[in-house]
Amino acid sequence: MTTTHALVDQDRLAVSAPSAADKFGRLERPELSYTPEVAEATKGVYEKVKHIIPAIEWPALAPTIHAINTLKKQRNAVILAHNYMTPDIFHGVADIVGDSLQLAIEATRTDAEVIIQCGVHFMAETSKILSPDKTVLIPDMRAGCSLAESITGADVRALRARNPGIPIITYVNTSADVKAECDICCTSSNALQVVESFGVDRVFLIPDKYLAANVGNKTDVEVLVWDGACEVHERFTAQELRDYRKIEPGVKIIAHPECPPEVVAEADFAGSTAHMIDWVKTKQPEKVMMITECSMADNVASETPGVDYIRPCNLCPHMKRITLSKILDTLVEMKDEVVVDPVIAEKARIAVERMINLKS
Ligand code: 13P
Ligand code: SF4
Repeated sequence: MTTTHALVDQDRLAVSAPSAADKFGRLERPELSYTPEVAEATKGVYEKVKHIIPAIEWPALAPTIHAINTLKKQRNAVILAHNYMTPDIFHGVADIVGDSLQLAIEATRTDAEVIIQCGVHFMAETSKILSPDKTVLIPDMRAGCSLAESITGADVRALRARNPGIPIITYVNTSADVKAECDICCTSSNALQVVESFGVDRVFLIPDKYLAANVGNKTDVEVLVWDGACEVHERFTAQELRDYRKIEPGVKIIAHPECPPEVVAEADFAGSTAHMIDWVKTKQPEKVMMITECSMADNVASETPGVDYIRPCNLCPHMKRITLSKILDTLVEMKDEVVVDPVIAEKARIAVERMINLKS
C-alpha cells in the first residue's frame, strides 16, 4: 500500500505556500537524559502506563515525553491522538484523544495555532479541512490507510454517473478528494444515523464494504457498498471468536464495525473505538476481548483496573508509524505539513460539516 496521491498533492501545493518550517523556524533538538527533574515531571504519566511499560524502560521514554510536552507549549501546538496510538503517546503527550468523530470535532474547537495529528493521513487532512488557517503537521507522512487507498475522487464521480440520484456517503477514512465528491461524511460512531438522515430507500456507504453491511443489517435502508476493507479488521474471523469463547468462558467480546458482519454477529457489542471504550468503562466486565487494533486494550486498561483483557488483536502498520521520537522531530523541525488544495478542501468541508451538524 502506498500513499502516492497524498504525496504528489503535497509536493505540488508546497511550491505555492511558505512551509511551516519557514514560518515557525527550526529549534535545537533538546538533550534527552533522565534527570531527577524529568523523573518528577513524568511520574504521573508513568502511573498510567506502568501496567504495560516495564520500569526498566521508563528512563528511555520519559525524556522524550518531557521534551515533547515542553516544546508543544513553546510552539502553541495541540496534540490530537487517535485511540490506536501507543500508550506512551496516548497517556504521555496527547492533549485530546478519541475516535475519528471526536478528533474531527476537536479540530474545530482548538485555539492552538498548530495541530499535530497523531493518527493517519486522512485524519490530519480532516483537521486541515476543518481548520484551514491552522498549521497541521503529521509525524509520518506515510501513515496511510487501506480504506482511503481503495477509492479516488474519479471513482466517486464515475459511481455517481452510473447511479444518478442515489446519495453517496463517505466514511471519514478517505482522502479529501473523495470527500469533496460525496454528499456527506460519516464515522463508525454515526454511520447509521447518517444513512437514515436522507429519508430515502437506497444510499451508497463507501468505501468500507463491511461497515456498510453492518449498518445495512440495522436499518430498512438498502446500503450499497464499495469494495474496500480495513486490512486490520478484515483479518478477524467468527471461528476465532467462537474458539476464544470456549477457551475463556464468560468473556465479553466487543468488536469494531469495520470487522466482517459474521464477526460482529458473534460479538456482544459493536461500536466505534470510543463506544468500545465507553462500553468497557460502563459495564466493567470481568474479562473482555476487544476485536480491534492492539493499542486499544493497552490504553483503556489503566482506567479499568478490575477488567481482565484477553488480547488477540491486530496491529495497524500505518498507525504504528507514529512514534514519540517522530513527534519530537515534528516539533523541532515543524514538518511534515499537511496541505489540501483549497478548492477541494472547501467541497470536502461541506461533507464533513454536514455530518458534524447532524443532531444526535
Ligand atoms: P474510529 O476511531 O472512528 O472507530 O475508527 C477506527 C479506525 O479504524 C480509524 O482508522
Ligand atoms: Fe485504516 Fe484500518 Fe488502520 Fe484504521 S485500522 S487506519 S481503517 S487500515
